[in-house]
Amino acid sequence: MSSSNVRPRRGNPRISPTAYATAAAWARYGFAEAEAFDTCRGRGMLAALQLGTGLLSPFVPAVAAGPQLLRWRHAAFSNWVAAQTPRLAIEIGAGLSTRGQAYARAHPDMHWYDLDLPGMVATRRRRSAGRSPPPNHDLAEGDLFDPNLGASIARPEHGPVVAVTEGVVDYLDRAAKRQAWANVAALLRRLGGGRYLAEVYPLRRFLEHGPAARAARAWTTRAHATLCYDDTDMVALLIAAGFARARILPDAEVAEWADLSRVPALPFSLLEAET
Ligand SMILES: C[S@@+](CC[C@H](N)C(=O)[O-])C[C@H]1O[C@@H](n2cnc3c(N)ncnc32)[C@H](O)[C@@H]1O
Repeated sequence: MSSSNVRPRRGNPRISPTAYATAAAWARYGFAEAEAFDTCRGRGMLAALQLGTGLLSPFVPAVAAGPQLLRWRHAAFSNWVAAQTPRLAIEIGAGLSTRGQAYARAHPDMHWYDLDLPGMVATRRRRSAGRSPPPNHDLAEGDLFDPNLGASIARPEHGPVVAVTEGVVDYLDRAAKRQAWANVAALLRRLGGGRYLAEVYPLRRFLEHGPAARAARAWTTRAHATLCYDDTDMVALLIAAGFARARILPDAEVAEWADLSRVPALPFSLLEAET
């Protein structure tokens, strides 16, 4: 795709309210410190998600587990990060997730940055008034579409660097994903190189065969829609965005990061990329 197709977008505040729902899920499933951002609004949104996925599940088995899917996704991200033993971790679009502050508290020898759009950072600051995050955790404004994303973050003297976006980039169409990923790759290169984890929901996981699958493939290809049909396209897009290597983690490997023993089918693929 030529760079002329890339339209700059400054921020995606319309995505921000979904952070309340995921924060309620992290509290429901007992993730560390998550009760801090458990709200009535979030619990209401989560109940709506549960109802919606319950109604859809006879037709789309990949959503049968409902909000539990969020639990496996969040656990997979957290365990992947822990396995990298990062000296520096940056979560972009962290929303109301407490993964960073909990990890930083348990690992005082590393530094964690949670970045998000100004409105979400302000909401989070307001809601966390009176509770102190650990000194090695920072919350700051950061926009995936800003070429200077994370400019104030210093390169560590040694040790692995990781960046993650969970529940963020798959709201974006292809051109916007590429632009966002180019900025993440540039940030990691400036920090001396590192690994990145994101998830996508490829339609092939919902619709494997038949006319519906063909129509979905045509639609996602023609319209450059938000959802991709095939996650291998996304690997190519990560490379085009400036990562040196990228791969889809096989489901068997995802199972190392999250207990998938009772998962009927996963609707998302985890993408790991490296600069
Ligand atoms: C669905 S929430 C996910 C929050 C968190 N990662 C989680 O899993 O609980 C999406 C988050 O992405 C943030 N976001 C959306 N567009 C962004 C952008 N361009 N740059 C940084 N963050 C963004 C939103 O403000 C929101 O907090």
